[in-house]
Amino acid sequence: METVKAEQPDSMPQDLSEVLKEATKEVHTQAENVEFLKNFQKGQVPLEGFKMVMSSLYHIYLALEDELEQNKTHPALAPVYFPEELNRTPALEQDMEFWYGRQWRKEIPYTAATEKYVNRLRDLGRTEPELLVAHAYTRYLGDLSGGQILKKIAQKSLGLPSTGEGVAFFSFPAIASATKFKQLYRSRMNAIEMSPATKKKVVEEAQTSFLLNIQMFEELQELLPKNQENGNVSGKQELRKRAGDKGQGWTFTETPAQKPQQSLLSHSPLLRWILTLSIVATVAVGFYAM
Ligand code: HEM
Repeated sequence: METVKAEQPDSMPQDLSEVLKEATKEVHTQAENVEFLKNFQKGQVPLEGFKMVMSSLYHIYLALEDELEQNKTHPALAPVYFPEELNRTPALEQDMEFWYGRQWRKEIPYTAATEKYVNRLRDLGRTEPELLVAHAYTRYLGDLSGGQILKKIAQKSLGLPSTGEGVAFFSFPAIASATKFKQLYRSRMNAIEMSPATKKKVVEEAQTSFLLNIQMFEELQELLPKNQENGNVSGKQELRKRAGDKGQGWTFTETPAQKPQQSLLSHSPLLRWILTLSIVATVAVGFYAM
Protein backbone atom coordinates (compact mmCIF):
# COMPACT_ATOMS: atom_id res chain seq x y z
CA MET A 1 0.00 0.00 0.00
CA GLU A 2 1.24 3.43 -0.86
CA THR A 3 1.94 5.73 2.02
CA VAL A 4 0.45 9.16 1.72
CA LYS A 5 3.08 11.82 2.24
CA ALA A 6 2.24 14.52 4.72
CA GLU A 7 1.19 17.67 2.87
CA GLN A 8 4.34 19.69 2.40
CA PRO A 9 3.41 23.34 2.07
CA ASP A 10 6.04 23.95 -0.62
CA SER A 11 4.71 27.36 -1.54
CA MET A 12 4.71 28.48 2.07
CA PRO A 13 8.18 28.54 3.60
CA GLN A 14 8.31 28.05 7.34
CA ASP A 15 11.76 29.26 8.33
CA LEU A 16 11.53 32.84 9.55
CA SER A 17 14.39 33.89 7.25
CA GLU A 18 12.60 32.51 4.22
CA VAL A 19 9.21 33.89 5.20
CA LEU A 20 10.79 37.31 5.67
CA LYS A 21 12.60 37.24 2.35
CA GLU A 22 9.46 36.15 0.51
CA ALA A 23 7.17 38.62 2.27
CA THR A 24 9.45 41.61 1.66
CA LYS A 25 10.29 40.87 -1.98
CA GLU A 26 7.70 43.27 -3.35
CA VAL A 27 8.45 46.08 -0.91
CA HIS A 28 12.19 45.59 -1.59
CA THR A 29 11.59 46.24 -5.27
CA GLN A 30 9.54 49.27 -4.26
CA ALA A 31 12.49 50.51 -2.13
CA GLU A 32 15.01 50.00 -4.94
CA ASN A 33 12.79 52.11 -7.19
CA VAL A 34 12.42 55.07 -4.89
CA GLU A 35 13.63 58.07 -6.92
CA PHE A 36 16.56 58.84 -4.63
CA LEU A 37 17.89 55.29 -4.79
CA LYS A 38 17.21 54.93 -8.51
CA ASN A 39 19.31 58.03 -9.18
CA PHE A 40 21.89 56.81 -6.69
CA GLN A 41 22.30 53.56 -8.62
CA LYS A 42 22.93 55.61 -11.78
CA GLY A 43 25.75 57.41 -9.98
CA GLN A 44 23.72 60.57 -9.42
CA VAL A 45 24.41 61.27 -5.77
CA PRO A 46 23.60 64.77 -4.55
CA LEU A 47 25.92 65.65 -1.70
CA GLU A 48 23.23 67.24 0.47
CA GLY A 49 21.01 64.21 -0.05
CA PHE A 50 23.79 61.84 0.87
CA LYS A 51 24.55 63.78 4.05
CA MET A 52 20.87 63.76 4.97
CA VAL A 53 20.56 60.00 4.49
CA MET A 54 23.61 59.44 6.63
CA SER A 55 22.18 61.71 9.35
CA SER A 56 18.87 59.85 9.29
CA LEU A 57 20.69 56.54 9.52
CA TYR A 58 22.60 57.85 12.52
CA HIS A 59 19.35 58.59 14.39
CA ILE A 60 17.81 55.29 13.33
CA TYR A 61 20.76 53.11 14.33
CA LEU A 62 21.21 54.96 17.60
CA ALA A 63 17.63 54.03 18.53
CA LEU A 64 17.77 50.49 17.09
CA GLU A 65 21.04 49.58 18.75
CA ASP A 66 20.07 51.15 22.06
CA GLU A 67 16.82 49.15 22.09
CA LEU A 68 18.61 45.93 21.08
CA GLU A 69 21.08 46.52 23.90
CA GLN A 70 18.29 47.12 26.44
CA ASN A 71 16.54 43.94 25.34
CA LYS A 72 19.53 41.75 24.58
CA THR A 73 18.46 38.95 26.91
CA HIS A 74 14.98 38.71 25.40
CA PRO A 75 14.65 35.17 23.92
CA ALA A 76 13.65 36.55 20.52
CA LEU A 77 16.64 38.88 20.37
CA ALA A 78 19.49 37.10 22.15
CA PRO A 79 20.22 34.75 19.19
CA VAL A 80 20.63 37.71 16.81
CA TYR A 81 22.56 39.96 19.21
CA PHE A 82 25.86 40.68 17.39
CA PRO A 83 27.00 44.11 18.59
CA GLU A 84 30.69 43.57 17.75
CA GLU A 85 29.97 42.54 14.21
CA LEU A 86 27.01 44.71 13.35
CA ASN A 87 26.71 47.89 15.40
CA ARG A 88 26.70 50.88 13.06
CA THR A 89 26.45 53.74 15.55
CA PRO A 90 30.23 54.18 16.09
CA ALA A 91 30.88 54.17 12.33
CA LEU A 92 28.07 56.64 11.76
CA GLU A 93 29.53 58.93 14.44
CA GLN A 94 32.78 58.98 12.46
CA ASP A 95 30.89 59.72 9.27
CA MET A 96 28.92 62.50 10.95
CA GLU A 97 32.16 64.17 12.03
CA PHE A 98 33.56 63.83 8.52
CA TRP A 99 30.50 65.39 6.91
CA TYR A 100 29.45 67.97 9.51
CA GLY A 101 32.61 68.69 11.50
CA ARG A 102 33.24 68.58 15.24
CA GLN A 103 29.94 70.26 16.11
CA TRP A 104 27.97 67.63 14.17
CA ARG A 105 25.62 66.83 17.06
CA LYS A 106 24.23 70.37 16.82
CA GLU A 107 24.30 70.46 13.02
CA ILE A 108 22.70 67.28 11.75
CA PRO A 109 19.08 67.30 10.58
CA TYR A 110 16.36 65.23 12.19
CA THR A 111 13.52 64.97 9.73
CA ALA A 112 9.89 64.07 10.40
CA ALA A 113 10.08 60.67 8.65
CA THR A 114 13.24 59.82 10.59
CA GLU A 115 11.52 60.75 13.83
CA LYS A 116 8.57 58.53 12.95
CA TYR A 117 10.96 55.60 12.31
CA VAL A 118 12.82 56.27 15.58
CA ASN A 119 9.55 56.49 17.53
CA ARG A 120 8.47 53.13 16.15
CA LEU A 121 11.74 51.55 17.31
CA ARG A 122 11.45 53.13 20.76
CA ASP A 123 7.82 52.01 21.14
CA LEU A 124 8.69 48.44 20.20
CA GLY A 125 11.63 48.39 22.58
CA ARG A 126 9.25 49.27 25.40
CA THR A 127 6.20 47.22 24.47
CA GLU A 128 6.99 44.43 21.97
CA PRO A 129 10.76 43.93 21.83
CA GLU A 130 10.39 40.63 19.95
CA LEU A 131 9.36 42.65 16.88
CA LEU A 132 12.72 44.42 16.82
CA VAL A 133 14.13 41.36 15.07
CA ALA A 134 12.20 42.51 11.98
CA HIS A 135 13.96 45.90 12.04
CA ALA A 136 17.37 44.37 12.68
CA TYR A 137 16.81 42.01 9.73
CA THR A 138 15.71 44.78 7.36
CA ARG A 139 18.60 47.06 8.13
CA TYR A 140 21.56 44.78 8.79
CA LEU A 141 20.93 42.22 6.05
CA GLY A 142 20.25 45.08 3.67
CA ASP A 143 23.49 46.81 4.64
CA LEU A 144 25.38 43.58 4.10
CA SER A 145 23.80 43.12 0.64
CA GLY A 146 22.89 46.12 -1.50
CA GLY A 147 24.72 48.41 0.93
CA GLN A 148 28.04 47.20 -0.42
CA ILE A 149 27.11 48.26 -3.95
CA LEU A 150 25.94 51.65 -2.69
CA LYS A 151 29.26 52.24 -0.90
CA LYS A 152 31.25 51.91 -4.13
CA ILE A 153 28.85 54.16 -6.02
CA ALA A 154 29.02 56.82 -3.28
CA GLN A 155 32.83 56.76 -3.22
CA LYS A 156 33.04 57.11 -6.99
CA SER A 157 30.29 59.68 -7.44
CA LEU A 158 31.37 61.87 -4.55
CA GLY A 159 35.07 61.47 -5.33
CA LEU A 160 35.79 60.14 -1.86
CA PRO A 161 39.13 58.59 -0.90
CA SER A 162 39.29 54.82 -1.28
CA THR A 163 40.47 54.63 2.34
CA GLY A 164 36.84 54.88 3.45
CA GLU A 165 36.46 58.35 4.97
CA GLY A 166 32.85 59.46 4.90
CA VAL A 167 31.48 55.97 4.25
CA ALA A 168 32.57 54.09 7.39
CA PHE A 169 28.92 53.12 7.81
CA PHE A 170 29.13 50.69 4.89
CA SER A 171 32.17 48.79 6.21
CA PHE A 172 31.96 45.87 8.60
CA PRO A 173 35.56 45.25 9.68
CA ALA A 174 34.55 42.48 12.11
CA ILE A 175 32.86 40.48 9.34
CA ALA A 176 35.22 38.57 7.09
CA SER A 177 32.56 37.24 4.71
CA ALA A 178 29.22 39.00 4.37
CA THR A 179 27.72 35.94 2.67
CA LYS A 180 28.73 33.60 5.48
CA PHE A 181 27.63 36.04 8.13
CA LYS A 182 24.21 36.42 6.50
CA GLN A 183 23.87 32.63 6.54
CA LEU A 184 24.70 32.56 10.24
CA TYR A 185 22.24 35.39 10.91
CA ARG A 186 19.47 33.59 9.03
CA SER A 187 20.11 30.37 10.94
CA ARG A 188 19.96 32.29 14.23
CA MET A 189 16.67 33.90 13.20
CA ASN A 190 15.31 30.46 12.34
CA ALA A 191 16.28 29.19 15.79
CA ILE A 192 14.15 31.78 17.59
CA GLU A 193 11.20 30.11 19.25
CA MET A 194 8.11 31.91 18.15
CA SER A 195 4.38 31.24 18.05
CA PRO A 196 2.76 31.46 14.59
CA ALA A 197 0.96 34.61 15.75
CA THR A 198 4.23 36.32 16.72
CA LYS A 199 5.88 35.18 13.50
CA LYS A 200 3.08 36.80 11.56
CA LYS A 201 3.58 40.05 13.49
CA VAL A 202 7.33 39.95 12.85
CA VAL A 203 6.72 39.56 9.13
CA GLU A 204 4.28 42.48 9.11
CA GLU A 205 6.77 44.54 11.08
CA ALA A 206 9.49 43.85 8.51
CA GLN A 207 7.16 45.22 5.83
CA THR A 208 6.53 48.25 8.04
CA SER A 209 10.27 48.65 8.43
CA PHE A 210 10.75 48.74 4.65
CA LEU A 211 7.95 51.29 4.37
CA LEU A 212 9.55 53.48 7.02
CA ASN A 213 12.76 53.40 4.99
CA ILE A 214 10.89 54.24 1.80
CA GLN A 215 9.15 57.19 3.50
CA MET A 216 12.50 58.41 4.75
CA PHE A 217 13.91 58.44 1.19
CA GLU A 218 10.78 60.01 -0.27
CA GLU A 219 10.79 62.80 2.27
CA LEU A 220 14.45 63.39 1.64
CA GLN A 221 13.85 63.71 -2.09
CA GLU A 222 11.26 66.39 -1.32
CA LEU A 223 13.68 68.26 0.92
CA LEU A 224 16.46 68.40 -1.66
CA PRO A 225 17.03 71.75 -3.34
CA LYS A 226 15.33 71.49 -6.71
CA ASN A 227 18.54 71.76 -8.75
CA GLN A 228 19.89 68.67 -6.99
CA GLU A 229 16.74 66.60 -7.09
CA ASN A 230 17.77 64.32 -9.90
CA GLY A 231 21.45 64.68 -9.50
CA ASN A 232 21.73 67.61 -11.92
CA VAL A 233 24.37 68.91 -9.59
CA SER A 234 26.37 65.82 -8.87
CA GLY A 235 27.86 65.21 -5.47
CA LYS A 236 31.34 65.54 -6.92
CA GLN A 237 30.67 68.97 -8.38
CA GLU A 238 29.02 70.01 -5.15
CA LEU A 239 31.96 68.74 -3.08
CA ARG A 240 34.36 70.79 -5.18
CA LYS A 241 32.18 73.84 -4.70
CA ARG A 242 31.95 73.31 -0.97
CA ALA A 243 35.63 72.48 -0.54
CA GLY A 244 36.34 76.05 -1.56
CA ASP A 245 33.60 77.43 0.65
CA LYS A 246 35.29 78.36 3.91
CA GLY A 247 32.04 79.19 5.67
CA GLN A 248 30.70 75.64 5.75
CA GLY A 249 32.72 74.52 8.72
CA TRP A 250 33.94 71.17 7.48
CA THR A 251 37.34 70.20 6.32
CA PHE A 252 38.02 68.32 3.17
CA THR A 253 41.17 66.52 2.25
CA GLU A 254 42.28 66.10 -1.34
CA THR A 255 40.17 63.62 -3.24
CA PRO A 256 40.50 62.21 -6.73
CA ALA A 257 37.99 64.89 -7.71
CA GLN A 258 40.45 67.60 -6.68
CA LYS A 259 43.71 66.14 -7.92
CA PRO A 260 45.11 68.19 -10.78
CA GLN A 261 44.39 66.40 -14.03
CA GLN A 262 47.54 65.11 -15.77
CA SER A 263 47.86 66.22 -19.39
CA LEU A 264 47.21 63.80 -22.24
CA LEU A 265 50.85 64.08 -23.25
CA SER A 266 52.15 62.87 -19.92
CA HIS A 267 50.01 59.74 -20.36
CA SER A 268 51.15 58.87 -23.90
CA PRO A 269 54.85 58.54 -24.84
CA LEU A 270 53.81 57.65 -28.43
CA LEU A 271 51.93 60.93 -28.77
CA ARG A 272 55.00 62.77 -27.44
CA TRP A 273 57.20 61.08 -30.10
CA ILE A 274 54.81 61.86 -32.93
CA LEU A 275 54.69 65.50 -31.83
CA THR A 276 58.50 65.74 -31.58
CA LEU A 277 58.95 64.14 -35.03
CA SER A 278 56.44 66.50 -36.64
CA ILE A 279 58.24 69.51 -35.13
CA VAL A 280 61.61 68.22 -36.41
CA ALA A 281 60.06 67.53 -39.87
CA THR A 282 58.50 71.02 -40.00
CA VAL A 283 61.82 72.66 -39.07
CA ALA A 284 63.69 70.51 -41.65
CA VAL A 285 61.23 71.43 -44.41
CA GLY A 286 61.58 75.06 -43.40
CA PHE A 287 65.40 74.89 -43.72
CA TYR A 288 65.12 73.11 -47.09
CA ALA A 289 62.75 75.75 -48.41
CA MET A 290 65.14 78.56 -47.47
C1 HEM B 1 19.48 50.80 -4.38
C2 HEM B 1 18.82 50.11 -3.55
C3 HEM B 1 19.05 48.67 -3.23
C4 HEM B 1 19.74 47.70 -3.90
C5 HEM B 1 20.51 47.84 -5.20
C6 HEM B 1 19.62 46.49 -3.14
C7 HEM B 1 20.19 45.29 -3.51
C8 HEM B 1 20.11 44.13 -2.79
C9 HEM B 1 20.71 42.86 -3.16
C10 HEM B 1 21.56 42.62 -4.41
C11 HEM B 1 20.40 41.96 -2.23
C12 HEM B 1 20.82 40.50 -2.19
C13 HEM B 1 19.68 39.65 -2.71
C14 HEM B 1 19.94 38.18 -2.48
O1 HEM B 1 20.89 37.81 -1.79
O2 HEM B 1 19.14 37.40 -2.99
C15 HEM B 1 19.61 42.65 -1.24
C16 HEM B 1 19.13 42.06 -0.11
C17 HEM B 1 18.46 42.74 0.88
N1 HEM B 1 18.12 44.06 0.88
FE1 HEM B 1 18.44 45.37 -0.58
N2 HEM B 1 18.88 46.72 -2.02
C18 HEM B 1 18.52 48.04 -2.04
C19 HEM B 1 17.77 48.71 -1.11
C20 HEM B 1 17.35 48.15 0.07
C21 HEM B 1 16.66 48.88 1.11
C22 HEM B 1 16.26 50.35 1.07
C23 HEM B 1 16.43 47.98 2.11
C24 HEM B 1 15.76 48.20 3.42
C25 HEM B 1 16.03 49.20 4.20
C26 HEM B 1 16.99 46.70 1.70
C27 HEM B 1 16.96 45.56 2.45
C28 HEM B 1 17.45 44.33 2.04
C29 HEM B 1 17.38 43.12 2.84
C30 HEM B 1 16.73 42.97 4.20
C31 HEM B 1 18.00 42.12 2.10
C32 HEM B 1 18.20 40.65 2.51
C33 HEM B 1 17.12 39.78 1.93
C34 HEM B 1 17.27 38.35 2.45
O3 HEM B 1 18.25 37.71 2.11
O4 HEM B 1 16.42 37.92 3.22
N3 HEM B 1 17.53 46.84 0.46
N4 HEM B 1 19.45 43.96 -1.60
